[in-house]
Amino acid sequence: MSQIIKAGLVGVTGYTGMELARLMVHHSSMELVKATSRSEAGKTLAEIYPFLNRLPLGDLVITQPDPADLAECDVVFLAVPHKTAMGIASELLEAGVKVVDLSADFRINDKATYEAWYKVEHTRAHLLGEAVYGLPELYLDKIMGARLIANPGCYPTSAILGLAPALKAGLVETGDIVIDAKSGASGAGRGAKVGNLFCEVADSFRAYGLPTHRHTPEIEQEISKLAGTDITVSFNTHLLPIDRGILSTIYTRLKSVATVEQVHEIYTEFYSDKPLVRVLPLGQLPETRHVRGTVFCDIGLVVDPRTNRLIVLSAIDNLCRGASGQALMNANLICGLDLDEGLPMAPMMP
Ligand SMILES: NC(=O)c1ccc[n+]([C@@H]2O[C@H](COP(=O)([O-])OP(=O)(O)OC[C@H]3O[C@@H](n4cnc5c(N)ncnc54)[C@H](OP(=O)(O)O)[C@@H]3O)[C@@H](O)[C@H]2O)c1
Repeated sequence: MSQIIKAGLVGVTGYTGMELARLMVHHSSMELVKATSRSEAGKTLAEIYPFLNRLPLGDLVITQPDPADLAECDVVFLAVPHKTAMGIASELLEAGVKVVDLSADFRINDKATYEAWYKVEHTRAHLLGEAVYGLPELYLDKIMGARLIANPGCYPTSAILGLAPALKAGLVETGDIVIDAKSGASGAGRGAKVGNLFCEVADSFRAYGLPTHRHTPEIEQEISKLAGTDITVSFNTHLLPIDRGILSTIYTRLKSVATVEQVHEIYTEFYSDKPLVRVLPLGQLPETRHVRGTVFCDIGLVVDPRTNRLIVLSAIDNLCRGASGQALMNANLICGLDLDEGLPMAPMMP
C-alpha cells in the first residue's frame, strides 16, 4: 500500500477550513495531521465541529499556526485571509512543504496589480512567477509539477469556466462581457460582520462591491490569456439569502450568427475530457442546489437571436469548487493522486 500523504490546514475555524475538514473525512490517501487556529488552539476538532464526533479526525488537537510545526506535512492548505498567507507560504516552501493557498496572495501575476486591488504590499513577490493558478481544466500539467498553488477565487472559478470555451474558440466579442454574479453569504467568511447577520441577509437580495470587486483583475487576467488579448469586464456581485452557492449569468455578444446547438457543441467538445465541468443539455439551466457540496461546475447555454447574445450560466458551490474542494483537487494533483480522489460527487440535498 502506498504511503498516506500528511496534510496540514492553517485556518481550520473559517468556512473554507471547516469545508476542508469535512472533505478530509472521505479521503483515503491523505490524512489531516495538523490543523491550526489562534482562537481555538488546544481544543479537538470534534469540540468545535460536532459533525466529527466519533470520527478519527475529531480527535485531532488544534494547534497555533506555527510554520515550523507544520514542516512534517507533505502539503499544507492555507485557508487564511490574503496578506497572512504569503509569509506562511514562503516559510513552508523553504521547509520543503508543498502549499495550496486559498487566499488571493499568489493569484495575480503582477505585483503592482495585486497591490492596487488588495491595498497591501506583496512581500513575497519573488514567488509570483512560480505559483501556478490552480484551475485544473486550464493548467493540469503545470499543477502536477508545482509546489505552490494559487487556488482560484470562487467567483473567478465560475466566470472563467463559463467563458473559457467561447473565448478559446473566438466565438464572442471581447469588449462586451458582463458577468452578473450572485453568491451565498459564506463567501464573505465566518468573521462577524453586520452585513452578514441573519436579519440583514435573509429574505432580501442586494448588490455589493460594484464596480470594484477584488476578483475583477483575477478574472481579467485569466480570460485575457484565453482570448489572447487584454479584456476588461463588467463584473457585478450580489448577495443571495442562501448559505452557499454561486450562480454567474454571463452576457456576451456573438461575433457572428450562431445557433445554440453550435455553441453547445463547442462547449461540450471543450469539456469532453474534463469531467468535473458539466455542460447541461440544451433547455436545462444550472441551479446552485445541484452542485452544493461538490466540485462540479454546471454550465447552461442560451442564445438570444434578437440581440445576438450568448448568455452563459455557471453554477458552483463557493466553498467546495470555489475554495476547499478545488484546493483538494490541486493537492491531489501535486501529490500524484487522481484529480477527484476523496471528493463527494453527489450534492448535499435538503
Ligand atoms: N469563503 C469563501 O467562499 C472563499 C472562497 C474562495 C476563497 N476564499 C479565501 O479563503 C481564505 C479563507 O476564507 P474563509 O472564508 O474560510 O475565511 P474565514 O472564515 O474568515 O476564516 C479565516 C481563518 O483564518 C484564520 N486566521 C485569520 N487570521 C490569521 C492569522 N493572522 N494567522 C493564522 N490564521 C489566521 C482564522 O482562525 P483564527 O482567527 O482562530 O486563527 C480562520 O480559521 C480567504 O483568503 C478567502 O478570501 C474564501
